[in-house]
Amino acid sequence: MKIIKFKKELEEALQGQGDTKKGFVPTMGALHKGHISLLNLARANNQLVISSLFVNPTQFNNPADLEKYPRPLNQDLEILREHGVDIAFVPDTEEIYNHPEPWHMDLGELDTILEGRSRPGHFQGVTQIVKILFDLVKPHNAYFGLKDYQQFLVIKKLVQHFHLPIEIIGCPIIREPDGLAMSSRNLHLSESERKTSLILYKALTKIRDLGKSESPESLKALAYSMIESEPGVRIEYFDIADRENLQPIQSWSEDKKALALVAAKVGQTRLIDNMFLNQDT
Ligand code: PAJ
Repeated sequence: MKIIKFKKELEEALQGQGDTKKGFVPTMGALHKGHISLLNLARANNQLVISSLFVNPTQFNNPADLEKYPRPLNQDLEILREHGVDIAFVPDTEEIYNHPEPWHMDLGELDTILEGRSRPGHFQGVTQIVKILFDLVKPHNAYFGLKDYQQFLVIKKLVQHFHLPIEIIGCPIIREPDGLAMSSRNLHLSESERKTSLILYKALTKIRDLGKSESPESLKALAYSMIESEPGVRIEYFDIADRENLQPIQSWSEDKKALALVAAKVGQTRLIDNMFLNQDT
């Protein structure tokens, strides 16, 4: 595996690859089985696999969150190597943003609802870095987890907007055996917070299992009351929305493919999760 820190070096390494099918997995490191599932898919479906480890400052609206983001670089490189990555791109902030260009992309409502509302500017930062990385790597396929569902839609929009010939592949959420969605942020949870966090998964599965027997509104109310009654958990949102555009679903008669999404803080740690509803449709 080549470990590359500089843009120029990356471009050189990728030159003359002709039609070689390139798969790309962008990450912020602190790799876990969720990331590994993306690496495995990329490895199985491409000739050359590139992955990046870069904690992107422009997508953090909370400096403390950026500061404490875990960065176990050597361990991450070992994981990339073990999973057959050909090129690990590990630039520092200076290398990426040495000549920062102003960035703004019209993402419509995706910018201001749910995660966009809780984290203003977050998706501007995400699209900024992913566009920079896509321009450098020029992958055929790029892999994103459905755990960050809104991010997945935002990236699809980025690719459409710039007419980039990149296939965006959404990969299933990988969970701990008890259901907690894997996340680099889970490392910050204390033992008791780790147990408390499970309420997000419990609420999502409860809602999914009740399905269309209840209105979206009463399912939401039930989820709120389940989560709010868990001490130490502060809910930011729980919504039932259209998988296409994340607009709220008011009644099942709309017959759209639905998704339930949740964000909450457990102690100081912010967690998000989601689950497809009415899988039958
Ligand atoms: P990061 O949080 O490191 O996630 C990298 C990729 O792993 C994302 O596509 C994310 O959705 C996916 N992922 C994380 N946890 C997962 C899980 N439990 N199951 C499946 N996939 C999971 O997302 C980012 O980094 C950044 O915003 C990035 C796209 C790299 C831009 O900086």
